[in-house]
Amino acid sequence: MNTITVLTDVATLRANARENIDQGAITPSYTADREEVIKLLNEALATELTCALRYRCHHFMARGINSRSIAAEFLAHSNEELAHADQIAARIVQLGGDPGFSPDGLTARSHAEYTDGGTLADMIRDNLIAERIAIDSYREMIQYIGDKDSTTTLMLKGILSVEEEHADELADLLQDHAG
Ligand SMILES: [Fe+2]
Ligand SMILES: [Fe+2]
Repeated sequence: MNTITVLTDVATLRANARENIDQGAITPSYTADREEVIKLLNEALATELTCALRYRCHHFMARGINSRSIAAEFLAHSNEELAHADQIAARIVQLGGDPGFSPDGLTARSHAEYTDGGTLADMIRDNLIAERIAIDSYREMIQYIGDKDSTTTLMLKGILSVEEEHADELADLLQDHAG
């Protein structure tokens, strides 16, 4: 019985690979809208940088009894958001884009907001809201990009799972410190 093959023959694969070799990892089988993916990743990059700065500010601003463990948590989250920013920036470059690190307009490009203080409970709440915004925007990006750029989708899924952990931790902290 003959099997129907949907795979490209080797000669065509080799010919395609030789075309536009300056595009590196981006081959003709990349079917996502590359410019749109880069734009979305740059918004995510701005969001991660804004979150890293907000958490860092809160790390130093956290005052009061029981603040030490929470301040340490804010710093840990800040470092993880910075690591996400690095991952996203590297992918933008792989896709042939320019990662947007300019502080000009950073908070306008970011989905999540920057806030710089208040009570410990205010900080926890602000961070939880920002995480929930990030979770929703990553989930939408994953659905939009899907299998058309599986490397980007895989990266975003990894980041999303960390944001969910962050939100879960903050929800627990808020319960302990609200009221
Ligand atoms: Fe993050
Ligand atoms: Fe996070």
